[in-house]
Amino acid sequence: MPDMLENLDDLQTDGLASLAEAQDADALEAWRLAYLGGKGRVKQAAAGFRDVPREDKPAVGQKLNAVKKALEDAFEEKKAALGPAAKAGPAIDMTEPGIDPALGRRHVVTRVREELVSVFARMGFEVATGPELEDDHHNFVALNIPDGHPAREPIDNFYVDDPASTGAPRMLRSQTSTVQIRTMERRDPPIKIISPGRVYRPDTVDATHSFMFHQLEGLYVDRNVTMADLKSTLLHFARAYFGEQADVRLVPSYFPFTEPSAEFYMKFALRPGQEPQWIELGGCGMVDPAVFEAVGYDPEEWTGFAFGFGIERLVMGKYKVPDIRMLFENDVRFLRQL
Ligand code: DAH
Repeated sequence: MPDMLENLDDLQTDGLASLAEAQDADALEAWRLAYLGGKGRVKQAAAGFRDVPREDKPAVGQKLNAVKKALEDAFEEKKAALGPAAKAGPAIDMTEPGIDPALGRRHVVTRVREELVSVFARMGFEVATGPELEDDHHNFVALNIPDGHPAREPIDNFYVDDPASTGAPRMLRSQTSTVQIRTMERRDPPIKIISPGRVYRPDTVDATHSFMFHQLEGLYVDRNVTMADLKSTLLHFARAYFGEQADVRLVPSYFPFTEPSAEFYMKFALRPGQEPQWIELGGCGMVDPAVFEAVGYDPEEWTGFAFGFGIERLVMGKYKVPDIRMLFENDVRFLRQL
């Protein structure tokens, strides 16, 4: 009986030693068959159990189970340690086609903004920029939006300073019309600029509203500028962007910084297969003399037109995007389609 126990000890020692040498899946499997398989050494030892004298059976049986358990545990541990290499076959199949690296692309709002810049550049407009952190002088006062005007309510604007404070309280600009003022303050006419950029309003977010969106502002100042120049500029822009069948309509409206003022509509199909509809895109008009005075231009000498519209609406119109939030969620599965 000591023989039998000793043999079992040897079986465990041998097994662990040869398992330590197995370095790949094939060697591991060969080891498993040799020790734990149906005809393996553990099975053979168990077969000898029949011949063990009765009084020794408890001790030998216990030992047999302990050895089997030790070898099985060591096997599992080794298998985990070898990791993926322990699976059948080579770890890397060199013949398999690779995964194409996904190419990045610019966001659709960026691409449309650049398209608009080039459309207007062909008409002689240069790009002007201004800060997103503005003050109420450029956002309101110089644009003929006086104290007490409802557009200045704190609830409709992101003020950074107390709006009641003296000086010019800072705010996130709510419109790109600010850049009209900043450009005219710096330069003498004639001026022909567009200014695309972000604007901020504390609107409740829904399918057509976002607290941040992009506008494009246009300003043309020269002698003898007329409403006909404005309309032909907008029409040219509509056709360059939406196609030759696009049309433009001006509807009388009111803005503090233009006189007369109009809302402009463009006709296009909102969804594929749908009849083209008139969609309101933005505001426009002839620059109000009070705005020229605020920047030191002589309103008797200079005339001009201005317009402004939301870029997202143009993106949504052309690419048939039903919800503005989709443009800001950055889900690449969506953005890749545009
Ligand atoms: N700033 C206006 C807005 O945010 C849009 C606008 C209207 C711009 C008329 C203009 C304009 O330049 O002339 O709603």
